[in-house]
Amino acid sequence: MTNEHTMHARYGGWAVVTGASAGLGEQFADALAGRGFPLVLVARRAERLEEIAERIRAAHRVEVLVVADDLADLASMDRVAAAIGGREVGVLVLNAGFGFSGRFVDGDAAADLRMVQLNCTSVVAATHRYLPPMLGRGRGAVIVVASVAGFQPTPWFSVYGATKAFDLMFAESLWSETRGTGVDVIALCPGSTKTEFSVHAHYDRPPDGDDPREVVETCLRQLGRRPSVVTGFSNKLAAFAHRMFPRAFVASVTGRVLAKDLLRTTPDELRKRPRAVK
Ligand SMILES: NC(=O)c1ccc[n+]([C@@H]2O[C@H](COP(=O)([O-])OP(=O)(O)OC[C@H]3O[C@@H](n4cnc5c(N)ncnc54)[C@H](OP(=O)(O)O)[C@@H]3O)[C@@H](O)[C@H]2O)c1
Repeated sequence: MTNEHTMHARYGGWAVVTGASAGLGEQFADALAGRGFPLVLVARRAERLEEIAERIRAAHRVEVLVVADDLADLASMDRVAAAIGGREVGVLVLNAGFGFSGRFVDGDAAADLRMVQLNCTSVVAATHRYLPPMLGRGRGAVIVVASVAGFQPTPWFSVYGATKAFDLMFAESLWSETRGTGVDVIALCPGSTKTEFSVHAHYDRPPDGDDPREVVETCLRQLGRRPSVVTGFSNKLAAFAHRMFPRAFVASVTGRVLAKDLLRTTPDELRKRPRAVK
């Protein structure tokens, strides 16, 4: 058996990838199809999903089912499940997510709540649905896409960082709960990665950072070996360094770094700004 197909033999069934219309999700779809998995691709942009599905069918000769839905709407879980039907879900990649940078007080409450719905609630809902059958079969894998943002407070990116801390803690807890069952759980914690993420996160920077293909390959290599994986040396260092300092110091330094990096200003300047009128 080739290395490519070992993973399919181990976990079986179909791979469901959320947020598969771009970025890391598209790369997960490619990587899993290359390892022999038929795919269910979920995101909102139907046309984009169809294009990706066509390309993957031609390249990898696997079945690909497209489900266009908004996962921030909790009712979408039933619709997605109905589309998946009786197909065995062997690998679940919970990747769909977005973030907004800026001062919390300038943010839109409805948009922040949608972020929590997508980045956290939908992750729990999907895991509730697909993890028990995996445990019943004694095989399967759940990949939760968290972030290096989840390791410490992230001032000026507060709600996003908090959702990713949730994802990280959730996946690592399930890693422990499922040890020895045949089901593997991992949190993927990328740093800045070259996808559409930065465009939606409203910071003034074109897509830049790590190659999403490499990020995905690193994750698949570490699946079954550890509870979480941080990609890239500097990200590993950042994720580790905060453990050695008091939390107030970490929050202050991170605030300074993010204000400069994402918003090209300083925390003092941001605190002085008048609140946006809504
Ligand atoms: N790129 C980075 O620097 C970075 C770093 C750390 C972690 N991450 C995490 O990586 C994951 C993937 O992001 P990415 O970098 O690949 O960004 P991306 O290129 O913007 O892709 C986000 C994906 O999520 C989907 N999505 C967004 N809202 C959705 C909704 N309401 N319902 C269903 N699907 C939705 C998007 O598709 P539609 O628009 O078609 O719905 C798209 O396929 C996210 O969880 C993000 O937090 C990214």
